[in-house]
Amino acid sequence: MVLPEEERGGGVFRAPAELLREAHVPSLDKYRELYRRSVEEPQEFWGDIAKEFYWRCRHTGPFLQYNFDVTKGKISIEWMKGATTNICYNLLDRNVYENKLGDKIAFYWEGNEPGDNMKITYSELLCKVCQFANVLQEQGVKKGDRVSIYMPMIIELVIAMLACARIGALHSIVFAGFSAESLCERILDSHCSLLITADAFYRGDKLINLKQIADEALQKCKDKDAPLRRCIVVKHLGREELLSDGPSSQSPPLKRLCQSVQEKKAESSKKGRPKIPWDSEVDVWWHDVMKNASRECEPVWCDAEDELFILYTSGSTGKPKGVVHTIGGYMIFTAATFKYVFDHHPEDIYWCTADIGWITGHSYLTYGPLANGATSILFEGLPIYPDVGRMWSIIDKYKVTKFYTAPTAIRLLMKYGDEPVRKYSRKSLKVLGTVGEPINPEAWLWYYRVVGEERCPIVDTFWQTETGGHVLTPLPAATPMKPGSATFPFFGVVPAVLDEAGEELEGEAEGYLVFKQPWPGIMRTVYKNHQRFETTYFKKFPGYYVTGDGCKRDKDGYYWITGRIDDMLNVSGHLLSTAEVESALVAHSAVAEAAVVSHPHPVKGECLYCFVTLRDGHDFTKNLMEELKKQVREKIGPIATPDYIQHAPGLPKTRSGKIMRRVLRKIAKNDRELGDTSTVADPAVINHLFNNRCETIL
Ligand code: WTA
Repeated sequence: MVLPEEERGGGVFRAPAELLREAHVPSLDKYRELYRRSVEEPQEFWGDIAKEFYWRCRHTGPFLQYNFDVTKGKISIEWMKGATTNICYNLLDRNVYENKLGDKIAFYWEGNEPGDNMKITYSELLCKVCQFANVLQEQGVKKGDRVSIYMPMIIELVIAMLACARIGALHSIVFAGFSAESLCERILDSHCSLLITADAFYRGDKLINLKQIADEALQKCKDKDAPLRRCIVVKHLGREELLSDGPSSQSPPLKRLCQSVQEKKAESSKKGRPKIPWDSEVDVWWHDVMKNASRECEPVWCDAEDELFILYTSGSTGKPKGVVHTIGGYMIFTAATFKYVFDHHPEDIYWCTADIGWITGHSYLTYGPLANGATSILFEGLPIYPDVGRMWSIIDKYKVTKFYTAPTAIRLLMKYGDEPVRKYSRKSLKVLGTVGEPINPEAWLWYYRVVGEERCPIVDTFWQTETGGHVLTPLPAATPMKPGSATFPFFGVVPAVLDEAGEELEGEAEGYLVFKQPWPGIMRTVYKNHQRFETTYFKKFPGYYVTGDGCKRDKDGYYWITGRIDDMLNVSGHLLSTAEVESALVAHSAVAEAAVVSHPHPVKGECLYCFVTLRDGHDFTKNLMEELKKQVREKIGPIATPDYIQHAPGLPKTRSGKIMRRVLRKIAKNDRELGDTSTVADPAVINHLFNNRCETIL
């Protein structure tokens, strides 16, 4: 679709008048006023937000203390050091006892199959969290210990993470799509003493035997003398029947669908449930250990700067980095961004489709919404299962008001046209959000026109695992939107655009996106590797936090993210490093060398195009290709599965032997405008690669 000029970036869209009436920030002027205060008087601005929370003791030292400049010493960031609190207490006890929200629904859980659902109130959640916190303590977990969580999208996942927070233990959640090897690597890096997982779950109609994968990981850990002693397993499969609405409360199409699902289940149960591997020395069932656990558990009071969790994110060297967030700053930042960016009100029904295994699920499915006493949907399933109307049916079923998803999901749903969307009412919707990657204007406009019927502003939120929460984002009632732009900085965030020499560019400009001072939610370190934290984010341009993204600032001061400028790529909103995939490929005995580049993909945004050079004596067969794909899936996980693998007898290299990825990206795209190739050691290699390109996705 060719868009008219004003829609290609020049067009500005505004929120409807009804939204402005009750909005927390109803105009751009108000945003500017608050923003100025947040930057000039951070202590007062964030201090006011902190007052909404419970602090056992107030901070003793300065409210904020930091060094952002590597040339002046160690990078350090401390907000409210010396204050003591408990984030779980603030999310649950405070909402139940002070705000009287005990009977309010915290989560509606919607299972993989339509009809499988349950709900949990704030008091019920508090009770379960206390019970599980007691279980953890009985298992010897103490403040500062690390607990690994590898689970599907079920309520127990939230319970487990909040129970860790209640006793001051750090959770390290590993997305359930990661492989045994990835899980093992993360357990070892963070020295976890306990793993929480589930028996198995369905993703669409595919059964994932999670416990079996977890066992493989544990076996690998054992071989490396890991301190992991215990594995707590939720029995998830097989309880769906207990949760079902029953056909009577369902609409006729849903009823038909459920019947067919029931038939399918009956069919699969004839084949027998999957066998769950069990080691009685290590494994215990969640429901067994919870049975007699007390429903009361005194929170462990922690310093605002104590660590809250570790979450691994890809690093450009290949080895994932354990991003560490601390309690106080993360709490007030996720709470404030959630409130303002989604313009949260008590009657909202909020739905974030992200998996809790990623930072979006940490900040905007768990901590941010619960800190605001919100009601959220926790969805286990897939956007197009059992049919392409699933998302819209859920929006109607729960009357969702605020909806937050990823551009990749929007592009996927857009493929099926408007009709499956228009079949549903969606009239409850008020604000739409996106996160994870740049959204192309076509997808933005479809989301705006078809899904939101031009009455819902879109908040295109730019942020990272490292930033803890939104750093560039519109506020729905205040910011005039431009499709594809993440617009302006959130409160307390001061962006700049730098050129290659590290000079700050003024006005309209394009360059490196950096931030000049800390906001409360910024990461504090890389787990047990502070040096890597400093090198990755602060070394290139001393005095700035470097995001690794490129950006443009237009004449109106709007920021437009142009994508990663390091060796990272973004597949369906998930960051992967090319080095990580390359090392998975070269681990195969047939592969001598591998180079992986990012390649545009209509739904995933970007995908993996791999060039492999084989060792002598190996042939590039279909079989080998399948083995290589499997290898990457096993080493990293299905999200990293290559879309293209091309045999490369040689790779274009500089004379010093550095692989020229810039050239490989052009070959993948069949773009012969190579620019300067004078530094290529052997130009004939390039021609060969062009003539043998992979045309079709594997
Ligand atoms: C990209 C996800 C453009 C960006 C919360 C960033 C985006 C990386 C946007 C972080 C957006 C995220 N527009 N690009 N709205 N949101 N990104 O750590 O490249 O999984 O650096 O955090 O995703 O990915 P991460």
